[in-house]
Amino acid sequence: MTPAASSARTHLGQRRTAAALVTGAGGEMGHALLRALAEQGGRAVVALDIRELDGPARNHCDASFAGDICDESLLSRLLGQYEIGEIYHLAALLSTRGEFVPEAAHQVNVVGTLNLLKLAADEARSRGTTVQFFFPSSIAVYGLPSLEAKRRAGVVKEEQFLEPVTMYGCSKLAGEQLGRYYERHYRLLAQDRMERPVDFRSIRFPGIISADTLPSGGTSDFGPEMVHAAAQKKPYACFVREDARIPFMTMPEAVGAALSLMSAPKESLTRIVYNISSFAPSAGEFADMVRREFKGAKISFEVDERRQAIVDSWPEGIEDSAARTDWGWKPGHSASSALKQYLVPRIRARYAVSSPK
Ligand code: SER
Repeated sequence: MTPAASSARTHLGQRRTAAALVTGAGGEMGHALLRALAEQGGRAVVALDIRELDGPARNHCDASFAGDICDESLLSRLLGQYEIGEIYHLAALLSTRGEFVPEAAHQVNVVGTLNLLKLAADEARSRGTTVQFFFPSSIAVYGLPSLEAKRRAGVVKEEQFLEPVTMYGCSKLAGEQLGRYYERHYRLLAQDRMERPVDFRSIRFPGIISADTLPSGGTSDFGPEMVHAAAQKKPYACFVREDARIPFMTMPEAVGAALSLMSAPKESLTRIVYNISSFAPSAGEFADMVRREFKGAKISFEVDERRQAIVDSWPEGIEDSAARTDWGWKPGHSASSALKQYLVPRIRARYAVSSPK
């Protein structure tokens, strides 16, 4: 338990510990966020994931629960022990996986988000103060109608082209809208309604590349897969064309952005959902950079037309001036510095340790 942890009593007189809740805590972003929250200190952190957390993730939180975000009895057990003032709701099925099981993706991504928003609103009422809610949205909310339209559009603004082609994109767009509703209009006609029970803050992330973990079930996975394969001296067949271009960023940039947005004064925020962007090489340009860093890397292109179509529907750039103005977002890397300063050294160290020669 962190020293700053405080407690409050339930109506039955039990003590509840004040904490931040992280869902999807065992996932890629979950691992990185748990570490960053532990480094920040100042609050107890409770993790929730469908699976038991691995050792490193468990070490970075005060308690962990394994189970489904749609399991109400699990959520009420958690609330029996913890008073939640801040939620990072990361649990989701990504875009490739979601196209095999769209209804399950809806259940996790939309119904799960609704459950967490309801939990936030109930907690706000019981504490008498707003609960902060972070929701990672995605470039998958965009749906450019054709490759030609994508090229013509170039860098797109938050409100353009919101006609996603994947269930993941539809569900992230729904999550954004639900968050806006819970913050501004929840129980609009109820006599005893609370003003702004939820302080909802969301970022539309581009593809994220981590040196420490690999994503699973996403369509931007070709970026991280290419670097991790090269570091392990494994050949990699990229599933999109060399000219496929979408924005990316590194995991530390993504987690840093989530924490900056959550700590920004509410009065400086003009939006519920912000675009942020860092670098956007084409798959071919990225492959060339990876080949320069990992001599002998074997990268080929074997296009999966259906996954390619998803990438073709995502913009090649997203406009992020509101994030820069409102809460000081600044990208930390170009594609080349992301590789040279962050990915290559960390990934080399990782595989040197995990697979000694
Ligand atoms: N990384 C996500 C995916 O590929 C997009 O945000 O599904």
